[in-house]
Amino acid sequence: MDVQISQFSKHVGEKVTVKGWVYNVRSSGSIAFLQIRDGSSFTQAVVVKDQVSEKAWEQTTQITIESSLIIMGEVSRHPKKEGVFELQATELSIVQRAEEFPIGKKEHGPDFLLDQRHLWLRVPAQWAIQRIRNEIIYATYDWMRENGYLKIDSPIFTPNACEGTTELFEIDYFGERTAYLSQSGQLYLEAAISSVGRCFDFGPVFRAEKSKTRRHLTEFWMMDAEAAFVEHEENMQIQEALIIFIVGRVLKNCHKELEILERDVEALEKVQAPFIRMTHAEAIAKLRTLGSDIGDMDDLGADDETILTKEFDKPIFIEKYPAAVKAFYMKPDAEDSTRVLNSDLLAPEGYGEIIGGSQREDDHDALLERIRKHGLSEKDFGWYLDLRKYGSVPHSGFGFGLERITAWICGIHHVRETIPFPRLINRLEP
Ligand code: 4AD
Ligand code: MG
Repeated sequence: MDVQISQFSKHVGEKVTVKGWVYNVRSSGSIAFLQIRDGSSFTQAVVVKDQVSEKAWEQTTQITIESSLIIMGEVSRHPKKEGVFELQATELSIVQRAEEFPIGKKEHGPDFLLDQRHLWLRVPAQWAIQRIRNEIIYATYDWMRENGYLKIDSPIFTPNACEGTTELFEIDYFGERTAYLSQSGQLYLEAAISSVGRCFDFGPVFRAEKSKTRRHLTEFWMMDAEAAFVEHEENMQIQEALIIFIVGRVLKNCHKELEILERDVEALEKVQAPFIRMTHAEAIAKLRTLGSDIGDMDDLGADDETILTKEFDKPIFIEKYPAAVKAFYMKPDAEDSTRVLNSDLLAPEGYGEIIGGSQREDDHDALLERIRKHGLSEKDFGWYLDLRKYGSVPHSGFGFGLERITAWICGIHHVRETIPFPRLINRLEP
């Protein structure tokens, strides 16, 4: 019977078949220890010369690292380690004998590993990261659905910018006009809320940002959420509940993955309500006490976010940034029109921004003025302005960067390891 390694605990004493790859092999004369991976988990298979056929033993001696194989045997408990299972092999055949695998146990530099990304994905830490990324994706879908959000797919080819014109990838659209790769589906979701009330999208977005930081990719996955009749304060409560749910799901379902990554689980367990709140003005004051020379109305830079978030063990909402450093669509704060009703959510432990959100400008004339001030095309944004003519309502939303959230939850330094095939300024391969 074919059994997944992750299900071994239910099959102790039974004869099973496992199909997978050998990621390490150690042998001493008449006994071989094969470290096997089948996609679901990892196990050790013990092959004893006397207990398998001659052919099986001959095959065992041929095994190289990353060879694919089919192995049969009895599931047993590890003699010393609680909750660990092994396979006592009875039969074995190689599917394909691997050539010498380029990734070894010695330390490799990041460039080498990124060049070998198609192979690097197999190593246990990368397996763990992709599993956690997957859990975050499913947790997000579950939470959104349970909380009344409909999935609305936004387009990737767009005629105009959502997040500023300097970071757009241009596409020649049939030699007739220029199209741009979407930076965020937000504007389209704003149209959809008047139909469905609350919605989200989840897909690849593109930023032609010349940033070479550990937080930037040129292609990444964003979940945008948008809700009618939700204002700034409630917008933050929604984000807080979503993040707590996601972290909780990973803690519940990804023990092994977090263990492989040696993630400090206690740090994740502290992700509980209420998150820390401060205004942009308060954040600036705090940063100055920490040695930053940031100006009163400056945007927070990557270094500022690192310094600030190392001070706290919970995520931090920073609210009400200066309008001048934020996008055109954000609604000004009624108490101070130089600031907007926005929030960036920063992850602790030095990670920095994982979510950007805001209440949107819902007044037609005020929005038109902002569009003009930002030098954007009135014509291109005609449809977006229309939304403020036919039953406009207060509304808010946010977008999270999947790779940033995954990096934080996994405790990985650079976002490039959290996406299967990273796209960076200087990297399009493999
Ligand atoms: O803060 P951003 O630019 O917000 C928006 O695009 C809004 N339209 C979202 C919305 O309100 N619906 O991007 C949202 C998130 C950031 O907080 C960050 O997590 C991630 O997207 N992000 C990136 N992740 C990786 N590489 C990049 N270059 C990123 N730029 C933004
Ligand atoms: Mg942002």
